[in-house]
Amino acid sequence: MQITILGGGGFLGRKFAERLAAEGHLGGQPVTSLVLFDLAAPRPLAAPFPVTCLGGDVASLADVSAAIPPGTSLVVHLAAVVSAAAEADFDLGMRVNLHGTLTVIEACRKLAGPAIHGLAAPPRVLFTSSVASFGGGQAALLPDDARQIPTNSYGAQKAAAELLLQDASRKGFLDAVSIRLPTVIVRPGRPNKAASSFFSAILREPLLGLETPLPVGEDFRVWVCSPRRAVDWLFHAAVMETAPLGVDRGINPPGLAVSVGEMLAALSPAERALVKREPDAAIAGIVGGWPAEFTATRARALGFTPQEGVPQILAAFREDDLAATRAERGL
Ligand SMILES: NC(=O)c1ccc[n+]([C@@H]2O[C@H](COP(=O)([O-])OP(=O)(O)OC[C@H]3O[C@@H](n4cnc5c(N)ncnc54)[C@H](O)[C@@H]3O)[C@@H](O)[C@H]2O)c1
Repeated sequence: MQITILGGGGFLGRKFAERLAAEGHLGGQPVTSLVLFDLAAPRPLAAPFPVTCLGGDVASLADVSAAIPPGTSLVVHLAAVVSAAAEADFDLGMRVNLHGTLTVIEACRKLAGPAIHGLAAPPRVLFTSSVASFGGGQAALLPDDARQIPTNSYGAQKAAAELLLQDASRKGFLDAVSIRLPTVIVRPGRPNKAASSFFSAILREPLLGLETPLPVGEDFRVWVCSPRRAVDWLFHAAVMETAPLGVDRGINPPGLAVSVGEMLAALSPAERALVKREPDAAIAGIVGGWPAEFTATRARALGFTPQEGVPQILAAFREDDLAATRAERGL
């Protein structure tokens, strides 16, 4: 199978690609080639199949069409401007998060021409939507049929993109599954412009021996998953039967509802002392609108594996990313 990862140079894109390279197949089907596409061409990846690294803009039809050659069976669409950045720069968020997705739909539609006449299946498109596409805040426990009422532009752009992907699936241009990812912790590397960046920083920075600010209280609850589990869910969504989804292509995966205090309890006392209480109304205002928990009943029934606890998340970070993060940051 030919696979394209849009946003393939980013955090989850790289993780997805590395797992493909390690396993060589997806759902029992051998990977025949991989395209990694990002604003700047992603760095090369050693793999048992050919890997092409392309630079381009997800909002350009020419660039995206070049990244999705005929015969592509899976497009993993991760390219995005993250939450606080999309809130700070409305035009950029609209261009990348909404018009970028429209461009992906158009590129697949062009490819799907023959499929509509029954010659080939349309490509599966995995879209990473977000918990931020919902409102409800700290008190929320959202069922699968909860309405998406986002309280920020990023969430609105994700929800709008989901609807359009759903309709494109109904039309047979593509075959979408939108996974509304929880906040993914622990993100390696450095803090980024996501409003949720601190949820990773309060675990990662102390493990590196560095101080880090905590902009919300310890009783603040958040819906999280690990990078490993996020990639597991994407792998599952890549090969699952989509007929049982009907027209509803959005999945709330089974993440973990956890408080900041419970996260900090997984650190040693010395590590915990590096987390400094510094309330930040702007950050709290964005993440405070996101729901803290979902029932995720449908996803469990569809075979998505539930997220395990914070100690396991921290152990996976130590195993997968701590050494590389230390090296990258010269620590
Ligand atoms: N990490 C999380 O906690 C989280 C939570 C919910 C949803 N998501 C979603 O998952 C996806 C991946 O997240 P991530 O954490 O890997 O983010 P990331 O920022 O590491 O990766 C996104 C990639 O998109 C690329 N990109 C941005 N604008 C582009 C453009 N115009 N053209 C081409 N590429 C462009 C960036 O360069 C980046 O490499 C995103 O869609 C994000 O919205 C992430």
